[in-house]
Amino acid sequence: MNNQRLLLDVKCVTRSYQRDGANMDVVKGIDLQVWERDAICILGASGAGKSTLLHILGTLDKPTLGKVLYEGVDLSRKSPSELAEFRGKTIGFVFQFHHLLPEFTALENVIMPCRIAKMSLKDSEYKGRQLLTRLGLEHRLDHYPSQMSGGEQQRVAIARALIRSPRLLLADEPTGNLDSANAQIIQDLFFQLKEEEGLTLIVVSHDRQFASRFPRRLELKDGMWV
Ligand SMILES: Nc1ncnc2c1ncn2[C@@H]1O[C@H](COP(=O)(O)OP(=O)(O)OP(=O)(O)O)[C@@H](O)[C@H]1O
Ligand SMILES: [Mg+2]
Repeated sequence: MNNQRLLLDVKCVTRSYQRDGANMDVVKGIDLQVWERDAICILGASGAGKSTLLHILGTLDKPTLGKVLYEGVDLSRKSPSELAEFRGKTIGFVFQFHHLLPEFTALENVIMPCRIAKMSLKDSEYKGRQLLTRLGLEHRLDHYPSQMSGGEQQRVAIARALIRSPRLLLADEPTGNLDSANAQIIQDLFFQLKEEEGLTLIVVSHDRQFASRFPRRLELKDGMWV
């Protein structure tokens, strides 16, 4: 039925936390297959485990049980430095709480992944300016996070996730802080990049209109697919 390549194969992933001496499973035996150019929206109530699962898919956290294969390779077999390199090259991550670095400007935050990868400063700044302009922030390039609104900071974090042209974008409520016009710009950008560059999208969103644009919508409840 699907002749596209399998990018992510999530096999029976469980994530447990210790709380008051007891084990609590917040993600419970999740399976998921993500194909190249897939666009998946993850829905679910607060506390359902959406961010936990997204962090595991983004190699920012590890499953307690089960595994995640990327193009057939078990990610748990990579060393921390291999994993960091893989993540930087392949994955763009938009955090629910954007995590910008306060002592750097908008443009400096956006190009940070390129600086870490020792890429050309000139090229990175050019691309960073382009992305920020596309996101309506051309007048905020030299502002620090404390000088920007929540929605502006969120757009900076989105530009940072896209700066290295990832293959896979994982975004945790990327339009949560935005007015409808700016939310629309983000949505359109994500789907344009999917068409133009073959970006694969996995997005957590509570926004019904945004969710309706995704061909695949999956709902989590108490750590399991509904
Ligand atoms: N580090 C942690 N230690 C203990 N419990 C945790 C930890 N991180 C998350 N949890 C618990 O795991 C559950 C799922 O959290 P998660 O952040 O994945 O939910 P979510 O679906 O993203 O919710 P929201 O819509 O509010 O962002 C919650 O009950 C949360 O309290
Ligand atoms: Mg969350």
